[in-house]
Amino acid sequence: MMGLAYRITYGRWLVLTLTALAFTVLLAVCTGCPPLPEDAPLRDLAQRKKLLIGTSVDETVFNADPQYREILAREFMILTPENAMKFERIQPEPSRYDFSQGDALLAFADANGMTVHGHTLLWHRQLPGWLTQGDFSPEQLKTILRTHIHTVVGHYNARIALWDVVSEAIDDEGQLRDTFWLRGIGPDYIALAFQWAHEADPQARLLYNDYANEGLNKKSDAIYRLMRDLQRRKVPVHGVGLQMHLSSEYIPDTEELARNMQRLDELGLEVHITEMDVRLREPTGPEALAKQAKIYRNMLDTCLAADNCRSFAMWGFTDRYSWIPDFFPGWGAALPFDEQFLPKPAYRALVERLRRCF
Ligand code: XIL
Repeated sequence: MMGLAYRITYGRWLVLTLTALAFTVLLAVCTGCPPLPEDAPLRDLAQRKKLLIGTSVDETVFNADPQYREILAREFMILTPENAMKFERIQPEPSRYDFSQGDALLAFADANGMTVHGHTLLWHRQLPGWLTQGDFSPEQLKTILRTHIHTVVGHYNARIALWDVVSEAIDDEGQLRDTFWLRGIGPDYIALAFQWAHEADPQARLLYNDYANEGLNKKSDAIYRLMRDLQRRKVPVHGVGLQMHLSSEYIPDTEELARNMQRLDELGLEVHITEMDVRLREPTGPEALAKQAKIYRNMLDTCLAADNCRSFAMWGFTDRYSWIPDFFPGWGAALPFDEQFLPKPAYRALVERLRRCF
């Protein structure tokens, strides 16, 4: 008698436990949030949310430092060549292209299940001397630019799915920036660049990429109008890159960021966070690092909440190698890993936010 009662109670307990377990697993799978191991890297956590997490990659460091390559492959899904695909590097002479570094990065990305974000086809910086010091007519410059874009995008046809086509063409006042390209070709250079990139790879997603365009301001308003105008003219544009070079003194308002992403979504455009870093005044301390972590977390949070925010990439991942100290003297410590490659509070904040199911 006792044995029978025990068997029934035990049987019920077993059925209940198994049902609860099955329910939890089903819920996790249905909500797209299956459990992951304690030490899951950023890329696995982000992938579960259909977000691509990325970093730029400095070619020199990439070639020299195996530990850098190991963390890169473990933590990230998108690899953005930091300089290797810029005009001065990839077409150093009028009739010579150098794809060696770009190809090496692409091979590494392929071998590690990563994708490459092409950066950048048209910018006013890092242009070769033969171009800036040449004396070209508008028609000649158009031919040079068309050939450049056709050749570069053509070389990577179907292997690079996302390109920064035009970078930083709008100034802080919301006007077309006074650049080599504007002076040389006129305002139409923007539409032409997108058109030529599309001709070379009709499948690639094509971005306009800029800085200080995260919140609502003259620049982001002008970019919104530019994108809307390009779309009306049937120019192939697919999204906007928000570089997100932030500092402890420049932090976009998250409400404004969300509204900016939303209005671009209403145009059917994707948004990509393309170059995030959060520079701090040196020397830093625990308080500044905690504040930095919060900024990373809030920006990620806003991206996750937006339907059209597809990727979240940083401009490097370790303070050992970052462009910040060279370009902003007195500032540094902008990335989620420190100079010893150890995770900082910012890294933990990203993990924590990505671990949350909702
Ligand atoms: C920077 C690189 O990190 C440096 O190595 C290089 O000397 C200058 O350019 N916005 C961009 C990037 O779109 O291409 C810049 O990269 C950083 C600012």
